[in-house]
Formats: sequence, structure tokens, C-alpha cells
Amino acid sequence: DAGKSGYDHYMLKEIYEQPQAIRKCLRERVNEMEGTITVDDLADLESSGPVQFVACGTSYHAALYGAQLLRERGIPAQCFLASEYDVDSIPVSEETLVVGVTQSGETADTMSALRGANRVGATTVALTNVVGSSAARECDHAMYIRAGPEIGVAATKTFASQQVALALFSSVISGECSQAFVEALRDLPDQVQSVLDNSTAREVAQTYEDADAYFFIGRGYNAPVALEGALKMKEITYKHAEGFAAGELKHGPLALVTDRTPVFAMVSDDGTAAKTLGNVKEVEARDAPVVAVTDSRETVDQYADFVLEVPETHPVLMPILANIQLQLVSYWIANRLGRSIDKPRNLAKSVTVE
Ligand code: G6P
Repeated sequence: DAGKSGYDHYMLKEIYEQPQAIRKCLRERVNEMEGTITVDDLADLESSGPVQFVACGTSYHAALYGAQLLRERGIPAQCFLASEYDVDSIPVSEETLVVGVTQSGETADTMSALRGANRVGATTVALTNVVGSSAARECDHAMYIRAGPEIGVAATKTFASQQVALALFSSVISGECSQAFVEALRDLPDQVQSVLDNSTAREVAQTYEDADAYFFIGRGYNAPVALEGALKMKEITYKHAEGFAAGELKHGPLALVTDRTPVFAMVSDDGTAAKTLGNVKEVEARDAPVVAVTDSRETVDQYADFVLEVPETHPVLMPILANIQLQLVSYWIANRLGRSIDKPRNLAKSVTVE
């Protein structure tokens, strides 16, 4: 228990370590004076072709975000579940840059995908937390996310560090970096701290711990966070949870929405808010409680039963802040239900079988 530093669970400790983890990920990589980003880990990397991400679980959600970042910067990028990479006919060649996003660097499915990419002569990169891991050793390049050891089976701080590392990675690969982005990265650790200090997630957990199921919706950069919010909820509360790109709600999941299924909606003031609010109104009309996670309280106030606020930041970084609120909601529901939070049933920290 000494390792928990007074927290009841490693997971909560690791949630609270996120400001520090992000600071470490950024250290000596972001130059505020010059408005530049450099990653020494990638100094020898040359890439001008398409990028493919392979990953599993939470790392897959980070990888989805990484692919979005690259596409926005004009680089063709796709994201694959590592376990599907060799069963699907994926066009990978010597021109392709294949990035394995894996906290442990040992996940069997991800390693198998990376080895397949190595065999065809693609350039491979491991984006990992563990120096000397299989992924770091076997890939051509390794970029470290520097989150520090994570004990809780459910990934928390490593996800935040992966998101930040991918934001840096996308700048390095595209050569695009604005002063506004650099400043937003500089401010991010303090903003994460302010979310941790001011969150009312515990109240949300108390109100909805008995719900039948939980749904998570988000658009654009917030869509991967919707998936991650649902995964975290399933992993540690054992309750039914699903995440969707907000627009998909009406194509099926809406049939499951009742007054006993809270819907967590990520609403970002980045041009996607109006459409996401449309989806919020759809669930409200079915009497579902709405919890909005937002950087724009005035936009959602009248539609939401609860508002979990995050500070305003660069639109690309908002999902990192939103996810902290979702981690806290899941943690506090699992805590109230007395679950085995650090070691959920049937799950392992690192899965070394395919
Ligand atoms: C396991 C863990 C997940 C993790 C996934 C991928 O399933 O329980 O939390 O996201 O493996 O792990 P990796 O080490 O490759 O990021």
C-alpha cells in the first residue's frame, strides 16, 4: 500500500499524476521561445509516405486520435486494431510508416502487427512507455511517452501521455507547429490540475451509480474519447457502457436510450457543438439524463443535467481534458460499487497472447 501514497487505489493515484506525466512528456521537446517542437527520439526518422497506426484497447483510442491529427495536417493516416491488421488486406509497403501505440510494448497483437510491417520493409515506430520493451527493441524507432510506471490495470495516465506524445509526433511528422499550439501544450499540465481540483465527477457518480447503462458521444477529436470513456466504465464498474461518434447514435443505439441510461456528451466549442447538441436533444427527448463535458458551459447549460467543465484550450487538446472528467466519473462509480478497481476481474495489464 505504501506505493499508493495515501490514495485508496493506484488508479486514483495515477489519475492525479497526470499533470506531472504530461510535463515529463513535454520536457525538452517543446521550445516556447522558438515556437518549435523537436523529439530527439525521432531524430533519424525520415518519412514522407502514408502512416498506419496499430494498437489495442485504450492505446487504440489514442491511435485513432493520432491518425486524426495527422490527417488534419495533410498526411494520409489510418488506424487499425492490431488484432485485425494481418487478417484484413492492409496495403502496407516500404513506403509506409507503421506506428505501434503500446504502453507496455509487449501486447502480443500489436507486436504481431509490427513484425508483419517489419517483414515487408515498412519503417516502424514504437510509441511506448517502457524503455527496452519488445516494441522498443524491434521497431526501427522508439518514441517514449514518459508516463512513469502504471500499476492500475485500467490505463489512465498512459493514455494522457500517449495523446500528448501523438500531438508532438504529428507536429514532427508534418513539420507543422504554431505558436498557439506550443503555448496550449505549455499550459496543459496546469489545466489538467485544475480539472482534478475542481471536478464534480463524484457528484455525478453518486447520482448515476444505479443506472442501467452509460452512453458516451463525441465528434471529431472527441470521438475517440467517447470510446475510451465507455471502455473505462466497462473495465472498472462492470456496467454496460458504449461509446459512439455522436452522429451514429441515431443509427441504432438510440433504441437503447431510456431515462435510466445517462448519456455523456463531449461538447467542444470547435465548430462541432451545434451538431452534437442536436444529438443531445435527441436523447433528452427520450428522457435520458445528460452529462455534458464541455469547454463552453453557456452552450450546453440548458440541455444538461450536469455539466463537467474543462478549461478552454487549443481545440486539438480539449479531448485530453475531457477524458480526465470521464476517468473520474468511472472511478467514483466503481468505488461506490465496491469493485476491484486496480485489478478488474478477467483483465490483465499486459496481454501477451493473441
Ligand atoms: C490490456 C490492458 C489495457 C490496454 C491494452 C493494450 O488489455 O488491460 O488497459 O489498453 O492491454 O495495452 P498496451 O500495453 O499495448 O498499451
